[in-house]
Amino acid sequence: MDDLEALRLKLNEAVQEAQDSDALEAIRVDALGKKGQITTLMRGLSNIAPEDRKASGQAFNALKSEITKAIEIRQTTLADIELDARLAADRIDVTLPSRPECDGCIHPISQTIDEVVAILGEMGLSVEAGPDIEDDWHNFTALNIPSDHPARQEHDTFYLPSGPNGERKVLRTHTSPVQIRTMQNGNPPFRVIAPGRTYRCDYDATHSPMFHQIEGLVVDENTHMGHLKGCLIEFCRAFFRVDDLPVRFRPSYFPFTEPSAEVDIGCTREGGAFKIGHGDDWLEILGCGMVNPNVLKNCGINPDKYQGFAFGMGVERLAMLKYGIPDLRTFYESDLRWLRHFGFSALDVPSMVGGINR
Ligand code: DAH
Repeated sequence: MDDLEALRLKLNEAVQEAQDSDALEAIRVDALGKKGQITTLMRGLSNIAPEDRKASGQAFNALKSEITKAIEIRQTTLADIELDARLAADRIDVTLPSRPECDGCIHPISQTIDEVVAILGEMGLSVEAGPDIEDDWHNFTALNIPSDHPARQEHDTFYLPSGPNGERKVLRTHTSPVQIRTMQNGNPPFRVIAPGRTYRCDYDATHSPMFHQIEGLVVDENTHMGHLKGCLIEFCRAFFRVDDLPVRFRPSYFPFTEPSAEVDIGCTREGGAFKIGHGDDWLEILGCGMVNPNVLKNCGINPDKYQGFAFGMGVERLAMLKYGIPDLRTFYESDLRWLRHFGFSALDVPSMVGGINR
């Protein structure tokens, strides 16, 4: 019985001194586990003389309950201590200054595309897309640019290595092939714009091997040159936000349109100052024309029933003119100082109502 008292004191002391739940668990296993000291005592009851067995059993049970209870109490205390420690360690110091927030901004190319899409979208044109890697037929032939046509040389095309059938794909040199894909895959009428990347082997202050264009195509039974002019005059005025912007259609040549025109807007270039919308000078901003009947035929559309107009413009050029960006190469240098200067806040989205509203 003295031994039992010694064990009782020893276990109680160990429980009180356990510093964390792991230590307490080790004590529980040592006392009450399968091979624990109290468990072993209870198993040995059958070896005790019958007359002492009852008293010993009661004593063992009392010890077991006492230690179980002590462990439970200590467990609760330790859990509180551990929680307090965790709360203290994880405490958020609300007086610390916040980390500087790094606002992203919209690249002028994305902004310009959004603005053009918003203006033309309001006129009923919807966005189409096509692949950057094109075949010769969509990029040239279907657009009435046959293999011996000089326009092919002017495009400074990037050719991909030839495929198994000897065909050489190209990085599209303009967004015009999206016209072809749209007409092949649907039925007229068509009213689409296709913004996207285009590629030509050229690099200087106004050219980059990868650049962006926006193509437009409107085809219906009675579409005529008046629609082309109305649409593009309205577009130029909304985009440059000059209500009475002078717009001029100058005869030109593109294989895929007949007649073709280049669109100029009024500007001044006096004493090195350049200003859009005033003065008697002109600046070319896009190409356009009535879709050549051969192009309609190539897409399986009857040119006697349908006619339309198309236009194409360079996004970088529009952005440079509108936002005064002097060098086209800077668009792709990812210089954060440049982006912060010329970029747009994400909240500056163009409104779809009444043109652009920033
Ligand atoms: N594809 C022409 C280019 O890259 C731009 C263009 C001009 C597109 C006239 C057109 C158009 O749709 O009608 O220079």
